[in-house]
Amino acid sequence: MQKFLTSSIGKKTVMALSGLFLIMFLLEHLYTNVTLFFGDGGIEFNETSHSMVRMIIIRVIEIVLFLAVFVHVAQAILLTKENSNARSVKYAVNGAKDTSSWNSRNMGFTGSVIFFFIVVHLYNFFVPYRITGTIGGAGQETVAQDVVAAMENPIYAGIYLISVILLAFHLSHALSSAFHTLGMSNKKYMPIWDKVAMGFAVFMGIGFGSFPILFFIAKLMHKDLLNWGM
Ligand code: HEM
Repeated sequence: MQKFLTSSIGKKTVMALSGLFLIMFLLEHLYTNVTLFFGDGGIEFNETSHSMVRMIIIRVIEIVLFLAVFVHVAQAILLTKENSNARSVKYAVNGAKDTSSWNSRNMGFTGSVIFFFIVVHLYNFFVPYRITGTIGGAGQETVAQDVVAAMENPIYAGIYLISVILLAFHLSHALSSAFHTLGMSNKKYMPIWDKVAMGFAVFMGIGFGSFPILFFIAKLMHKDLLNWGM
């Protein structure tokens, strides 16, 4: 087991499994965020957030999530180091640039921006809601109001949008690479998985990108998107 985990394929498998786990979380997160568009003043969003915090299984998943981010980043650093050592003698002709996509060559860069964003995101929402208790309590700003205020802030909305675009780039290579790592692809099916991964990445990019874009535009037009149905 130890031999497998320290081998290149072992590290790639850990990357793929931790990455796929993070993708499952992103899907759940996207669904929760979509409730911000229900026009109910954020009631559904707040209730989902509160009920999740109360569920012991979610608290356990949360710990697994932190571990998954840690393991994914640690393996990314190890694999990137290994790859650059293996490539220390550069090819004279037909360098990697000619044969690989921008996404695949910049997984470390897109991943680093995502990591920076995760830290900012936790600082903005997880810390005040779960640790300092400065939002989401009785008589305080609700979690939904806090999220919308952040989306209406041009600096936060800009950082969010750039991170989402780079997340989409990361995912478009990550998903097809994970299929490959886990042995679910061959020459015949690889182009199909590539298209599935691209479609998924675009879906996630549009999905998560819609929050800063729509809330920011709504603010410019003096519309209350959170309460449109009330
Ligand atoms: C929501 C966050 C993230 C998701 C969903 C995600 C997902 C994935 C997946 C599924 C893979 C493919 C693994 C494989 O090749 O089989 C991958 C690869 C990779 N990820 Fe992430 N990732 C995320 C965040 C990050 C972060 C924060 C970093 C850190 C710096 C990072 C760096 C990398 C790198 C360098 C690779 C390529 C490894 C290689 O094939 O050599 N990722 N990611």
